[in-house]
Amino acid sequence: MPWIWVFLLSAVLVAFTSFVLPRRRGPLPPGPLRWPLIGNGLDLWCKHPWKVYARWAQEYRSDILSLQIPGATIIILNKEHVVQDLFVKRGLIYSDRPYTAFFEKLGISRIFVFQDYGERWKNNRKAFKRYLGTETESVIRSNELLSCRRLLISLLTGNDHQVDFRKAVNDFFLSATYGIPPSQQDEHVALTQESAVLLKRLMIQGLVFEFLPFLASLPTWFTAAGVTRGVGVVGELVDKMMRTPFESAKADSIQGARRVSVAGRFFRFDKELSNISNDEEISIIDVLGTSYAAGTDTVVALVNSFALAMVLYPDIQRKAYTILNSTLRGRLPALKDYGTIPYIDALVQEVVRWNPIAPLGVPHVLRQDDVYKGYILPKGSICIANTWNILHDEERYGPNIDEFIPERFLNADGTLNETRAKTDVAFGFGRRTCPGESKSLSLYSMSVWLSTALRDIAREFAWILFASVLSAYELFDARDENGMPLYRSKIEYTTEIVSSAPHFKCQFRLRPGITRAMIHEAVGPVD
Ligand code: HEM
Ligand SMILES: *[C@@H]1O[C@H](CO)[C@@H](O)[C@H](O)[C@H]1NC(C)=O
Ligand SMILES: *[C@@H]1O[C@H](CO)[C@@H](O)[C@H](O)[C@H]1NC(C)=O
Ligand SMILES: *[C@@H]1O[C@H](CO)[C@@H](O)[C@H](O)[C@H]1NC(C)=O
Repeated sequence: MPWIWVFLLSAVLVAFTSFVLPRRRGPLPPGPLRWPLIGNGLDLWCKHPWKVYARWAQEYRSDILSLQIPGATIIILNKEHVVQDLFVKRGLIYSDRPYTAFFEKLGISRIFVFQDYGERWKNNRKAFKRYLGTETESVIRSNELLSCRRLLISLLTGNDHQVDFRKAVNDFFLSATYGIPPSQQDEHVALTQESAVLLKRLMIQGLVFEFLPFLASLPTWFTAAGVTRGVGVVGELVDKMMRTPFESAKADSIQGARRVSVAGRFFRFDKELSNISNDEEISIIDVLGTSYAAGTDTVVALVNSFALAMVLYPDIQRKAYTILNSTLRGRLPALKDYGTIPYIDALVQEVVRWNPIAPLGVPHVLRQDDVYKGYILPKGSICIANTWNILHDEERYGPNIDEFIPERFLNADGTLNETRAKTDVAFGFGRRTCPGESKSLSLYSMSVWLSTALRDIAREFAWILFASVLSAYELFDARDENGMPLYRSKIEYTTEIVSSAPHFKCQFRLRPGITRAMIHEAVGPVD
């Protein structure tokens, strides 16, 4: 079950009072026909809803749409100007999240992605900025490069690059955040995987159980006792997932290990300087846990999308390599190359744009009744920005919008087209913007306190990873699950909060001039 519905259901649960549609206090934005009792309930269960919403926007000639389900209104913002008007300019009232007591029980509310716009969230955001801000830049950057170099080694022998990619992203987050070396990462990754699977199942079971008890007559796992037991287990697992890596960083620093990491830095400096309280320590555990939880799946999805684009568009792969090689002249990329090869910048932008991994962003919730363009938007509405539609707008990005064409971000002479719309919208809006990405914030005059300092972790890591893989390997002979060649027109991304490329396999061949010895040597000291 797609994550988006978990969100929606949870919001429904909050607002849920009876099986009657809320009373209308004025015209809602247009939307498809509502059925008695269930409203648009059935319209929600569709594949790639972002495409459906884009079609409705044309059908109803409106950039803002609404859907109704029992107990809640869903508002869909289809164009950037609407998102700017609401999420950004009226950010004060459009920055809550669907959130329930159930989330709290599950321990998910410790992940601040899911917190309401309030004191707790603000403190976490501040701590995030502090611990992942500019001062830790060098920690993060050296780990970015190292984990990419280690990826090149595992690609030498691995037989499923998607496994290697996931390992590399985990490697980056675990080493940058906690200083956990590759040899000790498996146990943490297993823990995370385990909690993610359980969480997903439980959220669904629990929400459906509380929301639609009449459906609960069926399978045995679906009993109240089962859910309660599950909640306890998940709460503990989430706690363990966030706490164990932190504790291991603590143990390391007590033993005087000098691994460079965000947590290590905390133990070395901040703890002595500011005599930090237990509460604050917990807040740091949660913040670091959040960055690990929110960062890995998104970056893994981005990297998989990149590999898919490279095998579906071999001409573009060849061109990217040729341009890369003309600068690198047979060596592997280093940090100093970041941002010096416009074609790779354009490639990153296009991967972010082509099949956005968060096509509907993360829902925001409206805190109070609001009026917009004559429409009444009721308090508690779940507001969804159709990021996919904004990134697939030919007025913004030029023709052949569904094709993968990095050149759309370039001038004829190969420099970056500075007037072309950026892809920042992929990282969210206003006060809830993804803090793993920072450049977008300079666009907005608001929410200054959380702006500026953060580095563009996701983009930079993507840049280095893409450049490393392309300069060392040629990707070819892609096959789907059944061993059949891939066709562009048949590719389907998943319908989830994080929308991912389909699973596929391909061959990796070392580029001429790149040897196994070079790859092995490259994980030594990095510049
Ligand atoms: C390709 C990479 C990524 C994409 C496309 C992405 C996208 C997003 C989006 C769309 C949101 C919701 C914004 C909104 O509500 O308007 C978000 C929130 C968030 N992201 Fe990312 N993200 C990425 C990588 C990362 C990384 C690397 C980290 C951590 C280091 C991270 C941490 C977070 C956190 C903590 C939030 C919650 C912010 C809040 O609710 O205040 N993300 N991200
Ligand atoms: C840290 O704070 C605690 C309680 O507030 C206090 O008892 C302790 O002496 C402080 N330690 C230092 C090194 O300041
Ligand atoms: C890559 O660059 C090196 C050094 O300039 C050059 O010798 C080599 O021919 C290039 N490889 C390709 C495939 O263009
Ligand atoms: C650069 O971007 C602008 C704005 O989207 C567009 O009008 C222009 O044609 C682009 N230039 C090139 C050379 O593609």
